[in-house]
Amino acid sequence: MSRYFITTPIYYVKDAPHVGHAYSTVNADALARWHRLVGDDVFFLTGTDEHGQKVARAAEEQGMAPLEWTDQLSPRFAEAWAGLDIANDDFIRTTEPRHRVAVQQFLSRINDNGYIYKDTYRGLYCVPCERYYAADELLPGGFCPDHRIPLEELEEENYFFKLSEFQQPLIDWYAAHPGAVVPEPKRNEALSFIKGGLHDISITRTSIDWGVRVPWDDAHVFYVWYDALINYVTAIGYGQDQERFDEWWPSVHHLIGKEIIRFHCVWWPAMCMAAGIDPPAHVQVHGWLLLGGDKMSNSSVNRISPAELTEEYGVDPVRYHLLRDVPLGSDGEFSAEGISARYNADLANNLGNLLSRVTTVVGSKCDGVGPAPDPDSRLAGVAADVLAETTAAWDAGAPHLALESTWRLIHETNAELETAEPWKAEPGPAVDAVLGSALEVLRLVAVLVVPAMPSTAREIWRRIGLSGAPADQRLPAAGVWGGYPGGLAVEKGAPLFPRRKD
Ligand code: ME8
Ligand code: MG
Repeated sequence: MSRYFITTPIYYVKDAPHVGHAYSTVNADALARWHRLVGDDVFFLTGTDEHGQKVARAAEEQGMAPLEWTDQLSPRFAEAWAGLDIANDDFIRTTEPRHRVAVQQFLSRINDNGYIYKDTYRGLYCVPCERYYAADELLPGGFCPDHRIPLEELEEENYFFKLSEFQQPLIDWYAAHPGAVVPEPKRNEALSFIKGGLHDISITRTSIDWGVRVPWDDAHVFYVWYDALINYVTAIGYGQDQERFDEWWPSVHHLIGKEIIRFHCVWWPAMCMAAGIDPPAHVQVHGWLLLGGDKMSNSSVNRISPAELTEEYGVDPVRYHLLRDVPLGSDGEFSAEGISARYNADLANNLGNLLSRVTTVVGSKCDGVGPAPDPDSRLAGVAADVLAETTAAWDAGAPHLALESTWRLIHETNAELETAEPWKAEPGPAVDAVLGSALEVLRLVAVLVVPAMPSTAREIWRRIGLSGAPADQRLPAAGVWGGYPGGLAVEKGAPLFPRRKD
């Protein structure tokens, strides 16, 4: 059995999550569910990033203490994920004692290894980014390239991390691990940051209190990114449970948005090297969900909450849309037209239609008892190809291709039924063979859609009379043609995906 450790970024608790955050979390959840289906031992981690100036200021604006504020907001992430049927194994908050301990141990190790020193720092700081910028990185007029706001001049005595010493080790490591960052253009971006030259970075602050204290110097707290990245090892027992840590590290899969490549593909692997552990084995970078051409963000004009969408379309259609319409690695424009079009084409007209026509005709021609599949059906070959393609697509981190492939099987089965027209034929062996094969496709599809649409999968499974749960099936064994036993009571229910008029 292999292990699959997948993470999302831990999100800033500035506001409740929006659909951009949901995009990462749903993709990670689908990947986790796929790996459970193939029998891997899975650990899926998400959580909230609660320290730093940005959060402290947001709390202050509300007249609250920072912890009071984050105690209110962090559960809104957990609730949003429950509302999207996200099955994470752990939810980490950087304000938890387990994390404080891990951060202090991790950075003490780096300090002991000689990669931290004290110096005075003067620079231009962007609070929303939580980082200093060099003058040549700024927009004309000295504005932040991401937030387009003027920066604050800060001067402090800081501890510095000798990032500069890791330029060559990182270049060598990436040369030895060509697939470590995908897709390829994002790997090149990470490498060009590294080859462009690495400066030491300030990793502590004295100007704020809201953070993890530097264990060897009480006047300082660690800079929020240095604290946040360590969450990934806190959750698997870094410094607490060596055996557990060794089981899960370094073969992690970090799923991240493209704006935080530098932190995950430059800083974090260097920190790991400095602490004497291997860098993370896999980083998968995804693009942005756009609204009217701009990145969906926390500003009120440019955010949609996941709950608004699930109320309108249902949980599984929202998950399906996020997975199917925006390939990991590309940006994608979010629109009501887009989600409705996808819903009607794939869910109402294809999957929903297949389920309802098969269950209806089994009712009228087979007294509601599902027949066994035809071992020689043409669909058996299609199903075998689709299983192979779907598996390859999930392994390549391409949920959209996995679903596209599964829908080919649905589409081919609908076409087969339209040719055979069992609804017009006399009951008998020919009708049984066609309907039994269509039921077998529904069984296979129920298993294959577990990662994207877990409750739809369960409902299809139940309606065609199977017991147990599709998520408990194991691929590839459950993907072999002929698993539907026949002789089961098939239920004709209300349409799973009523057609939308908009
Ligand atoms: O960066 N489209 O937190 P954050 C797609 N706390 N994904 C989006 C998105 C959009 N429009 N908006 C946000 C932080 N995301 C740090 C991370 S990790 C150690 C610390 C997703 O709240 C995407 O995954 O700004 C992005 O990388 C992440 O949310 C940033 O969340
Ligand atoms: Mg951000």
